[in-house]
Amino acid sequence: MKSKDFFNLSWFGMKSIFLKQKKPILGTIILTDDCNLSCKHCAVNNIQKKMYSYESILKEMESFYDEGIRILFFCGGETLLWEDQGKNVKDLIKAARKIGFYIINIVTNGTIDLDLPEADVIFLSLDGKKETHNLIRGDTYDKIMENLEKAKNSNICIYMAINKLNYKEIEDVSKLAKSHPHIQSISFNFHTPYEGTEYLCLSKEEKKVSVNTIKKMIKEGYPIFNLYSALDIYLKNNWERPCYQCIVSEDHKRYICGRCVEVKSLCEECGYLFAVEFSLLFRGNIRIIFEMLRTYLRYV
Ligand SMILES: C[S@@+](CC[C@H](N)C(=O)[O-])C[C@H]1O[C@@H](n2cnc3c(N)ncnc32)[C@H](O)[C@@H]1O
Ligand code: SF4
Ligand code: SF4
Repeated sequence: MKSKDFFNLSWFGMKSIFLKQKKPILGTIILTDDCNLSCKHCAVNNIQKKMYSYESILKEMESFYDEGIRILFFCGGETLLWEDQGKNVKDLIKAARKIGFYIINIVTNGTIDLDLPEADVIFLSLDGKKETHNLIRGDTYDKIMENLEKAKNSNICIYMAINKLNYKEIEDVSKLAKSHPHIQSISFNFHTPYEGTEYLCLSKEEKKVSVNTIKKMIKEGYPIFNLYSALDIYLKNNWERPCYQCIVSEDHKRYICGRCVEVKSLCEECGYLFAVEFSLLFRGNIRIIFEMLRTYLRYV
């Protein structure tokens, strides 16, 4: 990130904290809800199986930028399945750079070519050791490892959604993230119980065990892209939500914080740690501000 961009983000942060501004800075555009997988914990795949058009995505990127959004995520469905009129995700990232976004990230299931140096960070979903990951995500682990081997020039962050089936493997996945030459970091979310997936939720005690494991690994120097101080606040579940600084757009429909905002009572059980972290950041939590600066400068 350029120092000018860093300064602008800090200025935005100060206005949000001191003037209680509720404008978004982080925007996610859903490129498609089409997906080649059907993971046990997911509720956003293959609903309409729609691939949104290049023009409509471009228009939304421009609107985002005009509204002050500077951190952009592309997500899905499976993000890397997206194509339209001979264009693919690389073309979208190039267009986003031209518009002027400071940080451009994607989230992917890793089953499609991962070598995407154009992105600032590729969040690669991996949900456990081979057997558990495949139980949750279908037989995809080997393919992901194969794609990882080829992804020599990308900044890859493992993205693990912690649930009842995989919470005992947090340390194993973190060890892989630390030792694999093509992985830079690892970020965790906790399961958010969409209808039909409640059985994957952790008990209070299991959440505590998981949080303690992550905290221990942060202290031991594992490359963890979560904020230490936000973890206990996640456990207490008393952070303010939704987070007004994040916005999601799917087919020009906007959602504050996440698409999940429209699911009744779901926010009360939110496991998305980015929402916890951003919410605390823009309410002026000093520790979080410091940890966010340190973490972003290290991994983005
Ligand atoms: C919806 S997927 C879309 C991108 C891509 N298909 C993938 O799997 O990474 C984005 C992320 O949301 C996570 N996710 C899906 N359902 C979830 C849930 N109920 N709770 C927490 N995370 C969830 C996935 O594990 C994935 O890391
Ligand atoms: S790969 Fe991503 S979008 Fe597809 S089902 Fe799994 S979590 Fe959902
Ligand atoms: S707080 Fe935000 S991320 Fe969490 S469930 Fe609600 S809308 Fe989704």
